[in-house]
Amino acid sequence: MAKRAAILGSGHYVPSRVVTNDDLAQMFNTSDEWIVQRTGIKERRFIEENGIGASDLALPATKMALEQAGRAVEDIDAIIFATLSPDIYFPGSGCLLGHKLGIGGVPALDVRNQCSGFLYSLSVADAWIRSGVYRNVLVVGAEVHSTGIELADRGRDVAVLFGDGAGAVVVGEATREGQGIKDIELHADGVGARDLWVEAPASMFIPRLDQAMLDEGRHYPRMNGRQVFRWATEKMPQVAMDSLGRCGMTIDDVDLFIPHQANMRINQMVAKRLGIADDKVVHNIQRYGNTTAATIPIGISESWREGKIGEGTKVLFAAFGAGFTWAGSVVEF
Ligand code: UT7
Repeated sequence: MAKRAAILGSGHYVPSRVVTNDDLAQMFNTSDEWIVQRTGIKERRFIEENGIGASDLALPATKMALEQAGRAVEDIDAIIFATLSPDIYFPGSGCLLGHKLGIGGVPALDVRNQCSGFLYSLSVADAWIRSGVYRNVLVVGAEVHSTGIELADRGRDVAVLFGDGAGAVVVGEATREGQGIKDIELHADGVGARDLWVEAPASMFIPRLDQAMLDEGRHYPRMNGRQVFRWATEKMPQVAMDSLGRCGMTIDDVDLFIPHQANMRINQMVAKRLGIADDKVVHNIQRYGNTTAATIPIGISESWREGKIGEGTKVLFAAFGAGFTWAGSVVEF
């Protein structure tokens, strides 16, 4: 029988520092009412102090995932690390995480696909497991946004959305009938590159960063919110339905829907378009904001521990983000 890849365990970690909407309103002109009404976010986590990177947040999430999967650190054959906020410009956070885990020599790949980064990474792990290249692949999504957003009036539309956090899963060979990653569908379209981006530093500029760019805030994320909203609410239901269709399933076969967490309104609209009941939809954006590549693995880890995921649970995933990139997947646990 052909090999099938499965998610064997998951974990997550968020920093202890809670930043409420009221805390942000002390820093710039915004309000709890505006943020809750437009996004559903009530609070998010920021790193506690200088010097904590995405790989540091990934470390406890990884240990939790390994424990649930019944695997030791030494069992990891490869690391895939999805992040748009790597600890440093280069090398990648996967290399740093491998070193912190004490598994020098194990290959590490960083994936730069923003909010779709986890599903892109899962797709690589799926291919590696099915083809027999590796037996246990660690897939991580981790972000430190708080050091990169503009906590001022000029950047307020973006600054209120993002938080720090990490999620991880261990992908290995399925052992039960039905279990496993049934489908992953990936898309990208650079037409939207400038609708959600960080422009500088950039290798196409001489110099890559100068004082004028800093003054103009071109090193902060900028977003055409309405455009991103429109694309997300169209592409997420479409890719989710396509992925289900490729598995010969309908929305009624789905036990749980874990969408990327960018905006509660987006997810409610997507759920409505899919025709899935709200009690089957995972929302944790209220507590963490948008943690980009980490939202889906955090959603998996929390749902598993809350008992929403168990043996045989069929989960639908959908993500949309900068690039633009978008992705859908169906997994049976
Ligand atoms: O992971 C994928 C990445 N991101 C997304 O998926 C986000 C997609 N977009 C969105 O979620 C929404 O577009 C936002 C939540 C970002 C914004 O909501 P909106 O309903 O599209 O608001 P808007 O940008 O049209 O702004 C409405 C008003 C503006 O004021 P005026 O021009 O009407 O006077 C903004 O200046 O709200 C103002 N505004 C704010 N007010 C208080 C923008 N940001 C803030 C803020 N606090 N933080």
